[in-house]
Amino acid sequence: MKKKRLVTSALPYVNNIPHLGNLVQVLSADVFSRYCRSAGYETLYVCGTDEYGTATETRALQRGVTPQELCDHYHAIHRDIYEWFNIGFDKFGRTSDPIQTEVTQSIFLDLDREGYINDRVIEQLFCESCDTFLADRFVEGTCPHCGSDDARGDQCNSCGKLLDPTELINPRCGSCGETPEVRSTHHLFIDLPQILPKLESWMDDASVRGFWAKNAIQMTKSWIRDGLKERCITRDLKWGIPVPKEGFEDKVFYVWFDAPIGYISITAGYTDQWESWWKNPEQVELYQFIGKDNIPFHTVIFPSSLLGSGKNWTMLHHMSSSEYLNYEGGKFSKSNNHGVFGDQVQETGIPADYWRFYMFYNRPEKSDVNFTWDDLKEKVNGELIGNIGNLVNRTLSFAHRFYDGTIADGAIDQEILDQVVTSVAAVTQHVDRAELRDGLRQICALSSYGNKIFQAAEPWKLIKEDSLAVEQLLRGLIHIIKALATLLAPYIPESAQKIGSLVGYDTLTWKDALEVAAPKALPTVEKLFTPIEEVESFRKKYSKQEDTVTLEETAQAFMDEIDLRIGTITAIDKHPEADKLYVETIMVGEEERQIVSGLVGHYTMEELLGKNVVVVYNLKPAKLRGVKSQGMLLAASSGEGDDEVVEVLFVPQAQSGSRVALEGCTPPEEGPKRIKIDRFFEIPLRAEGNFVKVSDSTLVVEGTPLRTEKVAEGTVG
Ligand code: 2FM
Ligand code: ZN
Repeated sequence: MKKKRLVTSALPYVNNIPHLGNLVQVLSADVFSRYCRSAGYETLYVCGTDEYGTATETRALQRGVTPQELCDHYHAIHRDIYEWFNIGFDKFGRTSDPIQTEVTQSIFLDLDREGYINDRVIEQLFCESCDTFLADRFVEGTCPHCGSDDARGDQCNSCGKLLDPTELINPRCGSCGETPEVRSTHHLFIDLPQILPKLESWMDDASVRGFWAKNAIQMTKSWIRDGLKERCITRDLKWGIPVPKEGFEDKVFYVWFDAPIGYISITAGYTDQWESWWKNPEQVELYQFIGKDNIPFHTVIFPSSLLGSGKNWTMLHHMSSSEYLNYEGGKFSKSNNHGVFGDQVQETGIPADYWRFYMFYNRPEKSDVNFTWDDLKEKVNGELIGNIGNLVNRTLSFAHRFYDGTIADGAIDQEILDQVVTSVAAVTQHVDRAELRDGLRQICALSSYGNKIFQAAEPWKLIKEDSLAVEQLLRGLIHIIKALATLLAPYIPESAQKIGSLVGYDTLTWKDALEVAAPKALPTVEKLFTPIEEVESFRKKYSKQEDTVTLEETAQAFMDEIDLRIGTITAIDKHPEADKLYVETIMVGEEERQIVSGLVGHYTMEELLGKNVVVVYNLKPAKLRGVKSQGMLLAASSGEGDDEVVEVLFVPQAQSGSRVALEGCTPPEEGPKRIKIDRFFEIPLRAEGNFVKVSDSTLVVEGTPLRTEKVAEGTVG
């Protein structure tokens, strides 16, 4: 009996809009599951959004909505994008569904009962002013390895080493900049070292039987070789699944503990027969499609949770872990406006099937792949249209022109029959192993073969001498086209359906590819494909290109990145160590900030005290000669040396706390992220004709432009 096939693709983080690279996995699982259904396997494809965790909670806070509301909003965006791409999920669910809590807690309780959960007291950084334990990546500080000041609690951005937040030199709270303190707290750990023997013997067998992708085998082996450590599965957060254990009422599960369990709970949300999929290893094969960055979670941690639970779970069979897709030579980046994202793909007017065709023609299957617009155009116009579309068009036009669309029954050349048998076998072998790129390339080769025999037979000449021979050729070509329609259906479902109906078949299943059937009356030809005309405009639109950005774009980018606010200087002192620096206390609305600035010699303390000034509000806190500085005052300056004039931007009429805006720009919905001072100085902020400007736009507070008095022309910083 054929085993059932359970297919999953990595649950995308709810608050990232997926780009083409993320779409690879969802699309791959779609093609694979369409193939499985066509080939007669009982198949289930589940996916959904991964919703819990720090990132969601923080972003919801910034926007002033609940995490659930934020997730509702983004979940709908994901759903629409996948619908547009024609993804045939059986269920696209969510990890915030209550059933996820039920399944996750029960797996946890099983693990605990089996003795694989350890309660440990750990030292963790606690920020007193925020009254919370800090997630690893919310601590900033100096890297103990390379000395860079750009390290986060989990990893150094500069040397890449993984860190423990307590290792950071001079740690700072990522949200308020205060120095956190080390406190002891309880956390729960999954005992991977104890589960290891089970995991290892499972992995040795499963990876071979399930012919895992090479990168998955390598990475899993290296994890096991380096020795597994117990891993913390609880977090101090609100937005997550409650931990059902006494003493842990304030904690939730770590998002990577619950996310893979989402595959199970989403199935349970789809059918109450979910155990026939997930607790049925004898009859079900689980195929998982992910990106390579998710490998250990799917081959080590999730399987360990299942093995340690003592229940008879359906375990991973085949791991299809794709490599990265890059974009025009770089990484996809929403913040840099580099790349095409799911919501933008739709606005290009290029049909979903063209994207699907291209993504599989170039699937990052065994190595990273670079997406370029030129290549998209070349492959779509050359292969999809120039090869496949051309074969269909020329064959059918010929049949209509000379035979009124009715080809008589009769023999087909043996060579053609053999070629179809060989090609279908090759495609099946690849696709069945989830080698989707190779499968598609074989399909294209069959189409090329069809074009070649058409060309070689020269039917436009032959028709005058031997109409029967041409009819036999057309029968053969239609046989090929029927096979193509069948094989292409998982890849480009809409177009394949059209191609099939053009040769008289409205539905085709995998076995029909080989069936030799009497030709049917052919409906009239409709245009299958329209070539992509130009891509240059897309390349411009979706790529970061410094020199072509317009003045308005520069101004908007400034608004998106820099947060300027009005503050009132309420106290001022000399810096204890540096004679050019003042230390000011500034109230920005309700919030007190301490800012160090080099104004000694330009202003007396009395001239500054009580004044309203412009504060760069989202600078990362820094220490200036040992004194903390949480931001910067804006001042204009011109001249050098003895001619230097420095003018603090005073704004007497404005309210403390007001945002400073650029005329003609919309302030971002969320406040901008915190930036480093170096970045701030890259931005051309200038005094021009006694106004303060970024490119062509003027800074305004509460509707009134900012004016300078002494510095008419100069730099502002
Ligand atoms: O990398 C990601 O987008 C993760 N949200 C994938 C999770 S896969 C599974 F475990 F849910
Ligand atoms: Zn803090």
